[in-house]
Amino acid sequence: MTRLLMPQVRERRTPTRVGRTYHLRTFGCQMNVHDSEGIAGLLEADGMVPASDPDTADLVVFNTCCIRENADDKLYGSLGMLKRTKDKRPEMLIAVGGCLAQKDRDLIHERAPWVDVVFGTHNLQRVVSLLDYAEEWGPITEILEESEAVAVVPAKREVAHSAWVTIMVGCDNSCTFCIVPSVRGGEISRRPGDVVREVQALANDGVVEVTLLGQNVNSYGRDLELGGHKALFADLLRRVGDVNGIHRIRYTSPHPKDFREDVAVAMAETPAVCEQLHMPLQSGSDRILAAMHRGYTAERFLAKLDLARRHMPGLALSTDIIVGFPGETDADFQFTLDVVAEAKFDSAFTFIYSPRPGTAAAEMVDEFLAPEVIQDRYQRLTERQTAIGLATNQMLVGETIEVLVDGVSKTDAAMCSGRTRTNKLVHFPAATAAGSFANVRIHRAAPHFLVGELA
Ligand code: SAH
Ligand code: SF4
Ligand code: F3S
Repeated sequence: MTRLLMPQVRERRTPTRVGRTYHLRTFGCQMNVHDSEGIAGLLEADGMVPASDPDTADLVVFNTCCIRENADDKLYGSLGMLKRTKDKRPEMLIAVGGCLAQKDRDLIHERAPWVDVVFGTHNLQRVVSLLDYAEEWGPITEILEESEAVAVVPAKREVAHSAWVTIMVGCDNSCTFCIVPSVRGGEISRRPGDVVREVQALANDGVVEVTLLGQNVNSYGRDLELGGHKALFADLLRRVGDVNGIHRIRYTSPHPKDFREDVAVAMAETPAVCEQLHMPLQSGSDRILAAMHRGYTAERFLAKLDLARRHMPGLALSTDIIVGFPGETDADFQFTLDVVAEAKFDSAFTFIYSPRPGTAAAEMVDEFLAPEVIQDRYQRLTERQTAIGLATNQMLVGETIEVLVDGVSKTDAAMCSGRTRTNKLVHFPAATAAGSFANVRIHRAAPHFLVGELA
C-alpha cells in the first residue's frame, strides 16, 4: 500500500466518470453530513450519479465517525457486508473517509483489505484524484496531519431551501472524553467575508435557512486578525443576518464556557437568528465537569441559560448529556438530574460514555462503571427529559406557529412536516411545497414533535 503526501491543489479537469454511479453513506454529526455534500459535489463534477443501492453502485463511499465505539463497529460491520459485493464485482471501488479513517488510518486496510481508498478529514477535496490513483495503481491510504485552511468544495445539497455553512473547523478544547480534536485538528476559522459571500450565493440560489457550523462557534475568529482586531462570532451573526433572502439562521455548537452576552445580544438584535440554542451540558456535577475539563460549573451553566433566555424570550434549548463518565457516583448523577429539572431543556441528546483511544478519560479504567449502573441511570435520565420535553411542547397547544416546510411525509402523502423557528418538528395535513412557510395551529403535542393544521 502506498501513502502519498501531495500538495492540496484543486484540480480543474474534465469529467472522467460520466454516468458511473456512487453510493454515499454518512455517519456522525452535521459536519460530516456537510462534508458528504462536498464529496457528492466532487463526484458529480466528475460525472457520477447517485445510487441508492450499494450492491450495484460503481463506487461506495463511507464518510465515517468515531465519536463513540459503536460508530467504529458500524463501519467495520458495513465493510464486512460489502466484501461479498466486491468479491462478485472486483471492479467496484470502495472508499472510506472521515473521522474514523483519520483515527484508524492503515488499520482500515488491515481489517478490510478490499477497501480501495482511505482518506481523512483534511483531504476530502482530493477524493477524485485518490480514486484515479486506486484505479491505476491499487489501494491507497492518504491521511494528512492537518488542514492548511477550511476546504471549500462545491456542495451538492439534498435540500434546496436550507443549507449548512462551515464557519470554522477543528477544536482547541481538550474535553477528556472527546476524540474530535485528534481527528479534526485545531481550530481554523474562515474569514467573515468568505462566509458572508457563501451565504449570499446560497440566498441567490433560493436558500432561506442557514446553519452555521463549527465545533465551538464561540471561539470563531480567535485565529483571525482583521485590520487590528479579532473577528467575533457576534459580528458574524449580524453580518449573516444582513444577507437578503435569509429568513432563518441557526448555529451549532456553542461551548457554554465561551458563550457570552455579546452573542446573546447579537442573536436578539438579528431578526433572522432563530430562537433556538444547542448548549451541551455533559454533566450536572461540578466534580465530573472538572474531570471532563469543561471549564464551567453547573451554576455557571445555568447562569448562561438565564442570560440567553433573558435576551431571547421564547428560546428553545437543547443539550448533550453523557451518562457514566468514569467515576460518576449516584450523587453526581443526581446533580445531572437536578440541572435537567431546572434547565427545562426542550430536548436532549443523551449518550452513554464510550472510552475513546488516546483521550484522557479512557485512561481512567479503574473508575469505569458497571454497564447495568449506566443503563439504569441512562433510562432514568431519558424518562425525566422526555417528560420535560412533553411538558414544554404541551404549552404550545393552541398557538399558531410559523413552520418552514420540509416536504410531504414519506409515510403519508396527505401529511406535511416542517420546523418551527425553535426547531420543533411539526406534522400537519396539507400538500405544501418544501421551502415554503406555513402558519400552523398546534392541537397536539408529543415529546419529540407537534401536530397541527394550517391556520
Ligand atoms: N463540539 C461539540 C461536541 C461534538 S461531539 C460540543 O462541544 O458541543 C457531540 C456530543 O457527543 C458531545 O456533546 C458529547 O455529549 C458526546 N460525546 C463526545 N464524546 C463522547 C464519548 N466519548 N462518549 C459518549 N459521548 C460522547
Ligand atoms: Fe469535543 Fe469538547 Fe471540542 Fe466539543 S468542545 S469537540 S466536546 S473537545
Ligand atoms: Fe462529527 Fe463524529 Fe467526527 S461526531 S466530528 S463525525 S467523530
